[in-house]
Amino acid sequence: MAVQSVGVIGAGQMGNGIAHVFALAGYDVLLNDISAEAMQAAVATIDKNLDRQVSRGKVSAEDKAAAMARIRTTTDMADIGATDLVIEAATEREDVKNKIFESVLPHLKPETILTSNTSSISITRLASRTDRPEKFMGFHFMNPVPVMQLVELIRGIATNEDTYQTLVGVVASLGKTAASAEDFPAFIVNRILVPMMNEAVYVLYEGVGNVRSIDESMKLGANHPMGPLELADFIGLDTCLAIMNVLHDGLADTKYRPCPLLVKYVEAGWLGRKTGRGFYDYRGETPVPTR
Ligand code: CAA
Repeated sequence: MAVQSVGVIGAGQMGNGIAHVFALAGYDVLLNDISAEAMQAAVATIDKNLDRQVSRGKVSAEDKAAAMARIRTTTDMADIGATDLVIEAATEREDVKNKIFESVLPHLKPETILTSNTSSISITRLASRTDRPEKFMGFHFMNPVPVMQLVELIRGIATNEDTYQTLVGVVASLGKTAASAEDFPAFIVNRILVPMMNEAVYVLYEGVGNVRSIDESMKLGANHPMGPLELADFIGLDTCLAIMNVLHDGLADTKYRPCPLLVKYVEAGWLGRKTGRGFYDYRGETPVPTR
């Protein structure tokens, strides 16, 4: 199936990154959110991130202008339903995702492919609540979307070959690389990455290291571009906790128990960069460790 237009539901950090790369690759993009402010903020972020790519010579000023012109925002699900490919990129909660699918389903064209950017929730279960499990897939981008090369493709039990091959082609058209993962909790990247970050929080909780020494150790000792606590703040501590809970519930193994200190930060509303505070405090000039 030829995909020309894409509907992105959710204008948060993943949604704006996804809209950015699709618009740059020549797709018509419709961005949707329940909050008009979030949509405005997303468009401003895309503009800023494209400027960053223009200033580094990665994107020409003409291509930036063309990409911006391909992005439209809408609060109307009927507009989203008219696109060829819908990507849900809302918050990592199954009830929220199910509600979104319920509201968009009556508007979808029969041939539209429906996907979720979920980082951990069962694709088969999400698909089973829709009218098109055979045209439903997990389409998992990494943050920051414009920079990260990988996209995970996750087929549910009912996903058909046509849908999968269409998305393989779409990923290639974005200049990115697809990795296929089976539909088990947190797929490949997060099954490995998020328990590593949770372990870093245990190392902090048990006093083995502090925020700075833990991050320095993994940056300088393992060549990670960001330390695990810095990365957790970047992803969002609520998202990290949600993924640990999916692993813990879905695999029933105590090795996936979320660290109580991670739970505490989330209870405090210290969710990382997006709220100005997490393992670091971002409210000043430079990030300051909070422990
Ligand atoms: N949009 C466009 N370009 C961006 C960008 C954005 N949002 N963020 C960074 N960049 C570009 C910069 O312009 C820069 O470009 P050049 O190479 O052309 O100079 C490049 O990316 C590097 O950026 P910086 O120099 O500002 O900073 P850096 O070298 O520290 O790199 C980083 C930043 C790419 C984010 C790097 O720290 C990194 O790779 N971190 C790890 C990210 C990671 O692990 N992501 C996966 C998270 S897991 C996930 O997403 C799955 C999930 O479901 C939770």
